[in-house]
Amino acid sequence: AQPSALPRDLEGLRVVVSAGGTREPLDPVRYLGNRSSGKQGYALARVAAQRGAEVTLVAGHTVELPEPAGAVLRRVSTAEQMREVVHEAAKEADVVVMAAAVADFRPANLSGHKIKKTDDQPDPVITLSRNPDILAELVTNRLPGQVIVGFAAETGDERGSVLDHGRAKLRRKGCDLLVLNAVGDGRAFEVEENAGWLLAADGTERPIPLGSKAQLAAAVWDAVGEFIRH
Ligand code: CTP
Ligand code: CA
Repeated sequence: AQPSALPRDLEGLRVVVSAGGTREPLDPVRYLGNRSSGKQGYALARVAAQRGAEVTLVAGHTVELPEPAGAVLRRVSTAEQMREVVHEAAKEADVVVMAAAVADFRPANLSGHKIKKTDDQPDPVITLSRNPDILAELVTNRLPGQVIVGFAAETGDERGSVLDHGRAKLRRKGCDLLVLNAVGDGRAFEVEENAGWLLAADGTERPIPLGSKAQLAAAVWDAVGEFIRH
């Protein structure tokens, strides 16, 4: 066998990683979606498998990506489907990482037929309904000792810095770790690099240097490993 540079420190751990964006249908041919590439979630799944974990990757819509070797891939489309598959897999998992871009809202009504434009009717208005918050549900249903990791992409604004928003989200979500990406200046969306902080529920905060998605994945699994050993 090829000698591996990576530690096998996740051996014996069952992990679930969600990745990509959800699509919320409006009619048989249209949907609301987002620009998530899925690359970060795939990198997390690939690195975890390389480090010996048993990996289930729950993938929404992504750009064309190679299947991570050694991971069980389960494809979903809507937030509702992602919810079902993630919860089912989480029942057997030591760690759940929600890297997916789950749509916060879906069209309140799904038209069974293609929506047509007409000249004698006013233009249609799309009414939205809130989607379930999968991460919050995972925290509520957490198994003893299970580690739950969330992601957040934040910008600073007049109400606070990226870190302020990240700290507030970690508290609000109740997860064990929050991977906080600073966005703006074109960072994190549709690019190869990431930078931000890893925030832990015990108040530990460490910066994530600018690097590849594989490097960020390694930093996340290092932090998860420490969390489990303590
Ligand atoms: N998430 C989720 N289910 C949702 C929305 C988000 O599980 N319906 C997860 C994401 O996968 C991510 C984390 O929650 O790990 C934070 O997502 P984010 O969109 O930053 O948080 P929201 O609570 O939706 O807040 P915001 O209003 O800032 O979008
Ligand atoms: Ca959101």
